[in-house]
Amino acid sequence: MAIAEGSRRIQLQVQQASLADVLGSTGETNVQGEIVQRLDAASSDIFVETLSQSGHVAAIGCEEIEDPVIVKGEAADGYIVLMDPLDGSSNIDVAVSIGSIFGIWQKRPDETVNDASLLRLGNEQVAAAYVVYGSSTVLVIATKDNVCGFTLDPESGSFAVTHPNIRIPAECPYYSTNEGNNKVLDESTRKAITLLRDKYSQRYVGSLVADFHRNLLKGGIFAYPADVNRTDGRLRLMYEANPLGYVAEQAGGAASTGYQRILDIVPKQLHQRTPLILGNKDVVEETVSVISGS
Ligand code: AHG
Ligand code: MN
Ligand code: MN
Repeated sequence: MAIAEGSRRIQLQVQQASLADVLGSTGETNVQGEIVQRLDAASSDIFVETLSQSGHVAAIGCEEIEDPVIVKGEAADGYIVLMDPLDGSSNIDVAVSIGSIFGIWQKRPDETVNDASLLRLGNEQVAAAYVVYGSSTVLVIATKDNVCGFTLDPESGSFAVTHPNIRIPAECPYYSTNEGNNKVLDESTRKAITLLRDKYSQRYVGSLVADFHRNLLKGGIFAYPADVNRTDGRLRLMYEANPLGYVAEQAGGAASTGYQRILDIVPKQLHQRTPLILGNKDVVEETVSVISGS
């Protein structure tokens, strides 16, 4: 409910954009060394507020906040939420779909939550969720063996079930990758991308959540592999790859670095990056076997 309420408030700002004077950058750079857009900061503030006030969240990790937020007071379920509050920042000012991403863990029994409590294995998530602010606003929530989609009714401000029991289709019409990086890929990765290009149609929004949501519903694979400039990849493990990897697996898909399952990576720090091959299980496995030569 805290995520739903936060995304309802963000959608209002996304919709009004320039009219509400929420576009453009803050002029700050975040821990990633990236320029913070005003909507990045606004989304971070909104979700920290709704999650902290929920009475169920013990700690929050956020792409836009360097250190963990340890929530004061009682947290009934002791959830730990790691989030990318606004994904696809380069698309905010040009009215292209953007999103929010959440990985949800539960603190260990009688654990006193501290910074280290946020560095949990992806395969210990109890749930994951994302929101796409697109032609409609869709909230997708994954729990064990169940992925369910809800659509926001802008009139009432409430979400209704519209995509019960999402399963990623067996067919794979699309591949999503930044073809501009091909010149900096290593040999085996470039071969893997060539195989995708030869087989599938290219769809690349530049907002991970939008690319993933289309692939989840219609079938497809997303690839942001390591390259010579980004040996650890570009996307963040804890609040992009882990949550969407969890959603993908619960819907029958897969998520890999190109060498190992995303959800098996032992995290070392909150903002670490990872290569990400995500989507239809068979195609991810084929792509991984070419990249890793396995
Ligand atoms: P964020 O806006 O949270 O920094 O995420 C942007 C990410 C992801 O959404 C997208 O897939 C990727 O950046 C696009 O990267 P390129 O512009 O390098 O293709
Ligand atoms: Mn992102
Ligand atoms: Mn972001």
